[in-house]
Amino acid sequence: MIEGILLCSNPQCQSEYPIIDGIPLIIIDLRAYVSQNILPVLGRQDLTDTMESLLGDCFGPGSAFDSQRQHLSTYAFDHYGDLDPEQTIHPPIEPGSIARLLEQGLRSLPRKDHGPVIDIGCALGRTSFELAQQNDDIVLGVDLNFNMLKVAASTLRTGHITYPKRRVGISFDRKTFQLPFRNMPNLDFWVCDATALPFTDELFVLATSLNVLDCVNSPYDHLKEFARVLTPGSSGIIATPYDWSANATPVGSWLGGHSQRSPHKGDSDAVLRSLLAGGNHPKALSELAVISEHEIPWNLRLHDRSHMKYLVQMLIVQKHAGI
Ligand SMILES: C[S@@+](CC[C@H](N)C(=O)[O-])C[C@H]1O[C@@H](n2cnc3c(N)ncnc32)[C@H](O)[C@@H]1O
Repeated sequence: MIEGILLCSNPQCQSEYPIIDGIPLIIIDLRAYVSQNILPVLGRQDLTDTMESLLGDCFGPGSAFDSQRQHLSTYAFDHYGDLDPEQTIHPPIEPGSIARLLEQGLRSLPRKDHGPVIDIGCALGRTSFELAQQNDDIVLGVDLNFNMLKVAASTLRTGHITYPKRRVGISFDRKTFQLPFRNMPNLDFWVCDATALPFTDELFVLATSLNVLDCVNSPYDHLKEFARVLTPGSSGIIATPYDWSANATPVGSWLGGHSQRSPHKGDSDAVLRSLLAGGNHPKALSELAVISEHEIPWNLRLHDRSHMKYLVQMLIVQKHAGI
């Protein structure tokens, strides 16, 4: 379904949730979300690259249009650049780092269960495609960024990706190429909030949160939701570079990264561990145990002559099997 309205059948509720460009928006405060996302929701994908370039020059650097294109450029390069037939073999930065991170995470899982999977903060969806290839049950990629999900959903429908790849300044080259992912009726992309997931408890046999913890408004609420939606005994992959920014997360909600006078000395990994099973935090999520920890490189490209290299901490966690 490309467009429609989901209506809650509960007579007490009767809430409406739109499906736009094939993407259901299942968000608590839909009015606020839509009014803050006018550009991505109404943005068009039918303009030629010449017209897009002229408009980009008019909107200028730092505009909402510019930052939207920069995001697409950066994440599409890492998500799909390794599958681009025109990609040079030894670029200054290797694309595909998120796919390699996921691969290592999946190899480290203590067990593999059959059932629905959720990829939280999937952005342009590469990891959701990989998960759907390995799983014949439902795989759901969720994110708050409608613009990125639009590209993910269109890639799912058409089998090819189109994205603006930044060369320099506000000059972008439009890239289009086929992807090897075919016929994935088990995969879908939804707008959902990682801190208030619209699912019943204990639904998913695997959850991933890859480089999302330091991007959400409340990392603690995200962890709580992550634990809540997992079935007892099932596993999750949490990866984060702890790249805290007050634009995404109020400082008081960061896990570490401040208050270095405290017993944790501001170490983010120590604070995260204290919030999981065996940790001494008063609000620790005792149902989520750490199985293993890994340090993994993650690369993001800004333009032809600039890129960022992160060292991400990846935790393999398992939810308590219950009694
Ligand atoms: C750093 S990106 C990582 C994307 C992808 N997982 C990867 O590693 O390439 C963080 C993603 O989290 C998404 N995000 C931020 N806050 C969110 C929230 N509250 N709910 C769902 N997604 C969120 C952003 O839109 C973005 O796509």
